[in-house]
Amino acid sequence: MWGASTSSHQVEGDNFLNDWWQWEEAGRFSEISGKACNQYELYEEDFKLAHSLRHNAHRFSLEWSRIEPREGQFDEEALRHYRNVISALQSLGVAPVVTLNHFTLPAWFQERGGWTAGEAAAVFSRYTERAVRALGKDVTYWLTVNEPVGNIHGAFIDGKWPPGKRSLKEAARAFVNILKSHCLAYRVIHDIYGKAGWPVSPPKVSLAKFTVKYSPCRKDTLADRLSSDLRHYYVNKLLIESLIKGYCIAPGIPPVKLPGKGALDFIGLNYYTRDYVHSRPFFKSGIFGEICSQRHHRDSGKRNAMGWEIHPRGLYELLKEFAKYGLPILITENGICAADDNERIDFIKDHLAELHRAMREGAPVIGYMYWSLLDNFEWAHGYGPRFGLVEVDYSTQRRTVRPSARIYADIISRNSL
Ligand code: FCB
Repeated sequence: MWGASTSSHQVEGDNFLNDWWQWEEAGRFSEISGKACNQYELYEEDFKLAHSLRHNAHRFSLEWSRIEPREGQFDEEALRHYRNVISALQSLGVAPVVTLNHFTLPAWFQERGGWTAGEAAAVFSRYTERAVRALGKDVTYWLTVNEPVGNIHGAFIDGKWPPGKRSLKEAARAFVNILKSHCLAYRVIHDIYGKAGWPVSPPKVSLAKFTVKYSPCRKDTLADRLSSDLRHYYVNKLLIESLIKGYCIAPGIPPVKLPGKGALDFIGLNYYTRDYVHSRPFFKSGIFGEICSQRHHRDSGKRNAMGWEIHPRGLYELLKEFAKYGLPILITENGICAADDNERIDFIKDHLAELHRAMREGAPVIGYMYWSLLDNFEWAHGYGPRFGLVEVDYSTQRRTVRPSARIYADIISRNSL
């Protein structure tokens, strides 16, 4: 599978019923999403572009707040819209990869505690059931939640994303609730397909896992190596391993038996960058140390326009490690924001070379989705960062295909670098 990814709030526009919109309106970010790329109206045009660029798969997300604008009330019009979105892809021969939740929550759900609410898993699986019943007929690939760990970090550790709580306790509660939500949704989706007898049955269900390559700041310092390994375990592996085993045991998180074992049909992997980990005396930074990428390693390598280090080898290393789980792997995001499109060309080629190396050595990779098809609303960073294969002029909504998109199209048609 070759293609690109997007998410509803970043491209659709006018998503005024979710928690992010509320924060934007309250002036918590420097820019508001507003009309974004107006993809809610322009999706057919965008999909035709993706198809002309040889994509045979496309990842996008459903906007939960449109489908369930008030608790328990489902909007048939919104479901009809997403049915049309899926048909538009189908008619071009582009396989839909559908995310049920990409960061934004309906405002009513966030008000009730969102992922920390006791009934979060039940609420999420009720939404999943409605959405999948209405839309599943032509969809094989489902992702329940995008980057739980990245989201929880932004919302409860950094506190810069809604609900902005900064509490380790809340972070742990959200983590466990998302694990449970995923497991219930996994079961719901499989049950629906089992009974419906749809042609695409059985479905393939996963989530999009946030990953970062961690390196110790000082290779010869044991404490740095330990902190780096601990981060690797907690950030990259704990969630996947819990879902595979059906339980989660980790210091700082209450032990939990999950309602399901092996609740992954493949692994969705998002990868962008490497971080360096520097330990400090325990009482100052804890056992996880601190990220010192910008301070001690400012000149260590190329960076994207947001300062993230570009480290293609990290993709190879993570793939080798994730391959050990024995599940197919779909790269659900990998991309660069850059003012100079040549950097995007290098990024794509270098990462695909590492991906190919891992595949030659046995990593079961089934596809690659570049982030993103279009320039879009990059969350708290607003519209500055440009990730798109296709440039968007936000004042006219004009799309312009970048040279990197054509080079990626050539790679796709050759199925080789
Ligand atoms: C990922 C998010 C995606 C996008 C990229 C740059 O962490 O899943 O929405 O913002 O980063």
